[in-house]
Amino acid sequence: MKHLSKLSLFALLLISGFAYVSCSDDDDATPPAELTLYQKLGGFSKVSDPNNPGQMIEQGRLSYRSVVDSTITLIVADIVAGSQGNLGAHFAPIVGEVSGGNTTNVAVLSKNLTDFFSANTGGGATNTYSGLGMVAAHDPAQNPRMGVKANNADYDKFIGYVGAAAGLNGVTDSALIGEVVEVLESLRAPIVQQ
Ligand code: HEM
Repeated sequence: MKHLSKLSLFALLLISGFAYVSCSDDDDATPPAELTLYQKLGGFSKVSDPNNPGQMIEQGRLSYRSVVDSTITLIVADIVAGSQGNLGAHFAPIVGEVSGGNTTNVAVLSKNLTDFFSANTGGGATNTYSGLGMVAAHDPAQNPRMGVKANNADYDKFIGYVGAAAGLNGVTDSALIGEVVEVLESLRAPIVQQ
């Protein structure tokens, strides 16, 4: 009997030992949930849309749209000013329209880019992209609105515009900008086609 209870005690210690080990293993295996880029840029919480009085917009989407619109403005301004290395050959159709006061297609481009970034960085529950795939969108043979194919230098220039646009919109956290650049870099291969 005495022998049995010693055995039980040993078994109990063994079991609780396992339980302790497996508990501490669980703790190690469950790191704090990583926020998506969409969440880090404001996520799904709704705020008033500064461009459309009376309407609401998700903060994450608003962050992207603001950076997208500034990027387009910076690109067009450099083209109009004739700055060196501008992307005029690629964006010729847009610049022609905007200079003539027609902003219909630039608004579509802004929406498509905002949809694209929102849907692909964690906002997919409420944001859907329905434009062209990245290869087709940047191949003049498939998308006549792409003036000429982009090369690596054009792509670097484009990333520079996005960085400047992020700064203009108060996105200055270097870790966050690093994550955005990572997303942009992940798309270089399908977009650079010469
Ligand atoms: C990460 C980088 C980029 C992303 C995510 C991106 C994404 C997009 C998207 C979503 C569209 C709209 C497609 C549609 O309407 O169906 C588009 C169109 C276009 N992209 Fe890009 N793009 C990138 C880089 C570039 C670069 C480097 C260039 C040129 C140097 C470029 C030039 C254009 C042009 C000219 C259009 C057509 C604009 C229009 O419809 O008027 N893109 N891009």
